[in-house]
Amino acid sequence: MAKMSWDDSLNTGINIIDHQHRGIVDYINQLHDAAVAEDREQITEVFQGLINYTTSHFAFEEDLLEQNSYPLLGAHKKVHASFVNRIQKYYQAHQAGKNVAKALSGELQIWLTTHIKNEDGDYARNVQIKAPTGSLLSRMVSRFF
Ligand SMILES: [Fe+2]
Ligand SMILES: [Fe+2]
Repeated sequence: MAKMSWDDSLNTGINIIDHQHRGIVDYINQLHDAAVAEDREQITEVFQGLINYTTSHFAFEEDLLEQNSYPLLGAHKKVHASFVNRIQKYYQAHQAGKNVAKALSGELQIWLTTHIKNEDGDYARNVQIKAPTGSLLSRMVSRFF
């Protein structure tokens, strides 16, 4: 699979969330490049960055949804948790010497696109958080990033 490129259909309309999603896309593409280069050390580094970044993004998003009493938060959290679980499994396989980075990069592209358009798109349409500076959202940003 080729690298992932951003297109407007992935925008939720919430700037900080779109910024974080683009960050995940960057990691997916770094993983792709490291896999093509067959650079195992680089793959390990990208794995760690990807896991940290997505975990922070999910925590941010879940906090945001909780603050906004989003009714489908429980289901959304489960999707995030199973996703992290899946990346961890791939990471373990990588550490065991298997070549999984390319497959993971492809799977992540599909997963992220689907999740952004469906689950994230749903809260983006239902949560009113186009927040100005000094708001709860900007305080949360400084807490997580
Ligand atoms: Fe999400
Ligand atoms: Fe998200």
